[in-house]
Amino acid sequence: MQPQTDVVERTTDEALERLKAVSDLDGLEEWRVSTLGRNGALTQILRSLGSVPKEERPRLGAAANRAKTVLEQHLAEREQELKTAHLADVVERESIDVTLPGWPVPQGRLHPTTRMLRETTSVFASMGFQVEEGPEIELDRYNFDLLNIPKDHPARDMWDTLWIDRVDEQGNRPMLLRTHTSPMQARIMEKTSPPVRVVVPGKCYRYEATDATHEWHFHQVEGLAVDKGITFADLKGTLYEFARRTFGEDRQIRFRCDFFPFVEPGVDMSISNFKDPKTGKRPINRDEDWIEILGAGMVHPSVLEGVGYDPSVYTGFAFGMGVERIAMLKYGIDDIRLFYSNDVRFLQQV
Ligand code: PHE
Repeated sequence: MQPQTDVVERTTDEALERLKAVSDLDGLEEWRVSTLGRNGALTQILRSLGSVPKEERPRLGAAANRAKTVLEQHLAEREQELKTAHLADVVERESIDVTLPGWPVPQGRLHPTTRMLRETTSVFASMGFQVEEGPEIELDRYNFDLLNIPKDHPARDMWDTLWIDRVDEQGNRPMLLRTHTSPMQARIMEKTSPPVRVVVPGKCYRYEATDATHEWHFHQVEGLAVDKGITFADLKGTLYEFARRTFGEDRQIRFRCDFFPFVEPGVDMSISNFKDPKTGKRPINRDEDWIEILGAGMVHPSVLEGVGYDPSVYTGFAFGMGVERIAMLKYGIDDIRLFYSNDVRFLQQV
């Protein structure tokens, strides 16, 4: 069939119709190839001009060329439109609205034990105590022997000990996870001469079944003061001041006689857990008026001798307090296991 001018018109109309439906630049490129490309509809017509009778040729050729110009114009216009729309779209989607509120950055917190440890050591630091730390894996010698607790002494039963599985030539196990921070008393005195005034925050371990008041690991703050003329009144005054600053004026403290092999006399100290007269609630929800938080006493002469101090010249006091217990009383926490069960609801409260 010979191409006629109406074929040119139809092809043009049809191409313009398709152009209306083009909605993006890829679609436009497809349209260009299928219309004006090498095998495009209009190109086919122009190619076939050779087979058209001579007299028809100029007219048809002119019509086809006009159609080409028209289509190219529409192509250029449409391209411009689509590019503008595309740009507007990109600007819309990718622009940054600096007035929008930012994403909240989750803020970490200190663990309640860490807070209590820091608070406690800073109370003593303000009273002139230095702060020192020591090893958690400890020698029997420091954890027991130098604290006046010889091997096979029944007082060892006061601490349920986790031993390190290593045996020396004598068949003894010389290493353990420290059961208290008291070994640092001996370590510090061994390497310094009096006066000594130091507190030791740290982690301790016991071979214990856990319950609301016992954990197999917990923290203590040990205190030690040695000098000429230190008396039990100094111990009481220091601990009283600590309790006042930590728990406030209204809480009461109580000392009772207690036994620890490395002190003489020995005491324990408790903090009042009385019912609030208005609410009927206790600081810790336990049916007890007093909660014990520390052991203390005057450093035993044998301990002083063991580290090379002359007990006829020097005296001293020592104490060791349970940090989680203090936090429990202060913040009204009634189960010690909450501290190490990693429940964020608990950890976020402090
Ligand atoms: N170390 C003892 C304990 O863990 C506490 C204590 C420390 C007692 C210092 C007296 C003096 O039970």
